Amino acid sequence: MANRINLNQTSYHGAGAIEEIANEAKAHGFKKAFVCSDPDLVKFHVTSKVTDILEKNGLAYELYSDIKPNPTIENVQHGVQAFKDSEADYLIAIGGGSSMDTSKAIGIIIANPEFEDVRSLEGTAPTKKPCVPIIAVPTTAGTAAEVTINYVITDVERKRKFVCVDPHDMPIIAIIDPEMMSSMPKGLTASTGMDALTHAIEGYTTKAAWEMTDMFHLKAIELISKSLRGAVENTKEGREGMALGQYIAGMGFSNVGLGIAHSMAHTLGAVYDTPHGVACAMMLPIVMEYNQECTGEKYCEIARAMGVKGVDEMSQDEYRKAAIEAVKKLSVDVGIPTKLEAIKEEDLQFLAESAHADACAPGNPKDASVEDLKDLFRKIM
Ligand SMILES: NC(=O)c1ccc[n+]([C@@H]2O[C@H](COP(=O)([O-])OP(=O)(O)OC[C@H]3O[C@@H](n4cnc5c(N)ncnc54)[C@H](O)[C@@H]3O)[C@@H](O)[C@H]2O)c1
Ligand SMILES: [Fe+2]
Repeated sequence: MANRINLNQTSYHGAGAIEEIANEAKAHGFKKAFVCSDPDLVKFHVTSKVTDILEKNGLAYELYSDIKPNPTIENVQHGVQAFKDSEADYLIAIGGGSSMDTSKAIGIIIANPEFEDVRSLEGTAPTKKPCVPIIAVPTTAGTAAEVTINYVITDVERKRKFVCVDPHDMPIIAIIDPEMMSSMPKGLTASTGMDALTHAIEGYTTKAAWEMTDMFHLKAIELISKSLRGAVENTKEGREGMALGQYIAGMGFSNVGLGIAHSMAHTLGAVYDTPHGVACAMMLPIVMEYNQECTGEKYCEIARAMGVKGVDEMSQDEYRKAAIEAVKKLSVDVGIPTKLEAIKEEDLQFLAESAHADACAPGNPKDASVEDLKDLFRKIM
């Protein structure tokens, strides 16, 4: 089977990149933007960094901010109604994965109203039309939703997060401006950065990985491990490295898939509302240990990309251990917890079954049974 690569039509990178939004909106002849952003970003004047540019350029917009972290079916449905009422003709997503994913779902449903129940978009739904054009402006350095064909929505009633995979949701323009990320507090920088590292490592070791995505993932692992500690300290170099590293990871994993660290993180997000990056960071080293026997020489390259010295002199056992230790050390250095107290023994069956059914599970290099997943969840209790 041929390998497929989907990317943005256009992306802008670097400090001040948000200024390009006005030129792009005018060049496309857009009339009115439906701006999706979350309430905290509005309150802390992150959203206004972009809306000020729209105002300065006389570009009309309407703001929608009924979006919570781990966004819900209701957030999407209210957004679809508000979009219709607004008479907008394009979307600007300003935020982390939650704002960008909500925008994608709204844009898809406006163009494909037969999916208005939202749930039917799970997996690879047969949508017919590209979503309403999206300009995506990430404010976290983590999900890379601005360049992925995925979005993740929470079904509160069924306690599930479901992944939708659809090339029709790809933002036409991505604006990756590290200055949009500089207001992130330390803990959020750390957890969203570890989400990006999880994308890079799971994308590199997933079953469908191939040369081109390996190239993206190895570069992303290198950039993220070099930059995350600095980003947490809010250095310019750290923010720039993370902005680029997380995007490059997205260029890869979006096209090949992930693994069970993500399946398990989705479940933890749905059941305990655990922030996505924290859940990924807790699961990543545990899943790396579990997967190691099915990864050939890949952990040697992960260790090298993470700056481990002397990998060529190491045995397979040694470089695998070194790669896992490098991930654990980075996670501890940026203050990620290793335990989730909310998990109870009686929850394990539901958690494991839910992770087993998640869209990311089939990509894992080692096939994990429900019992295996229970054992892995136990390690963070
Ligand atoms: N589409 C994809 O490919 C993809 C990939 C991974 C994860 N996700 C999904 O994305 C969601 C997580 O997104 P996220 O981790 O980016 O966080 P988020 O969008 O959920 O935001 C988390 C919190 O951080 C705040 N925040 C964001 N940027 C900020 C900034 N610059 N300054 C201050 N506060 C800021 C927000 O206001 C919010 O309260 C999850 O639902 C996850 O499943 C999607
Ligand atoms: Fe993720």
